Amino acid sequence: TPKVISDKNQMRNWSRSMRAQGKLIGFVPTMGLLHMGHLSLVSKARSLCHVVAVSIYVNPAQYAPSDNISPYPSDFHADLRKLAALPSGVDVVFHPRNLYDYGEDGGDVAVDVDGSGHESWVRVEKLQAGLCGKSRPVFFRGVATVVTKLFNIVEPDVAVFGKKDYQQWRIIQRMVRDLDFSIKVIGVEIVRESDGLAMSSRNMNLSPEEREKALSVSKSLLKAKSAAEDGKVHCEELKNVAIQCITDAGGRVDYAEFVDQNNLGIVEQMKGPVVFCIAAWFGKVRLIDNMEINFS
Ligand code: PAJ
Repeated sequence: TPKVISDKNQMRNWSRSMRAQGKLIGFVPTMGLLHMGHLSLVSKARSLCHVVAVSIYVNPAQYAPSDNISPYPSDFHADLRKLAALPSGVDVVFHPRNLYDYGEDGGDVAVDVDGSGHESWVRVEKLQAGLCGKSRPVFFRGVATVVTKLFNIVEPDVAVFGKKDYQQWRIIQRMVRDLDFSIKVIGVEIVRESDGLAMSSRNMNLSPEEREKALSVSKSLLKAKSAAEDGKVHCEELKNVAIQCITDAGGRVDYAEFVDQNNLGIVEQMKGPVVFCIAAWFGKVRLIDNMEINFS
């Protein structure tokens, strides 16, 4: 079983002792409730590095009070069992209690950022503006900040992210470049259920009927892709194919956008490296999915 560390300094000391032994450190940040998507990131990290650290931490800073998404119920022991069962193994699980406890308010009980004295934020301004940034205004600021904190604590050589959260992956890549982190950021393909639904911890919150309807998201991406391959080049037209598909199934589309794979700017014609990103609601569950389409 992996070594569990909850203290920041202990985590940093472990990494530094590994580095002193010439070992490359791979890192996979997560919020727990692990599934095959997360585990594929771990395998990727393992294939690139000598040792692998996984963090499990539900970051309060990426939730707005208005989000109506209370932090996931966690099941740390189940997560630990899943990691321990991996043939490739994990060396360390970093499981801090509160990364915003600076010992100023005398309490390490608060798991809230408010009142912790924390006031420094990392924002990747243009990349975080569109797509999920529109409906979740504080989300990416919270993500970029906690990933910065984790990078400074774990000091990895390689960090692995899923393309499931495409915008998040691009934001972290840009942040690492812009702020000169000495870390290589890797993106891993989306892992899907056998019927096509992108794996997500949120899928367990879907009722059986909603689970059925939610299939329309991955279907709509494929539909739009094949329409594009059949010669439809106007993104507006392709978007409508997808929106129709999801709406007909009973979902509510938050956004459906064709954007440039690198700068996430909206594109109007199918040209070059494009990614089709969708967010949609099924009942109280908001799901995201995307598909890269490389047009010459
Ligand atoms: P979380 O939602 O737990 O996701 C952790 C990592 O797993 C992310 O890089 C995400 O893209 C990846 N992932 C999730 N589902 C996937 C799937 N079906 N296929 C491939 N990869 C998948 O993302 C976060 O946590 C947080 O925002 C975090 C980066 C940890 C910062 O708090």
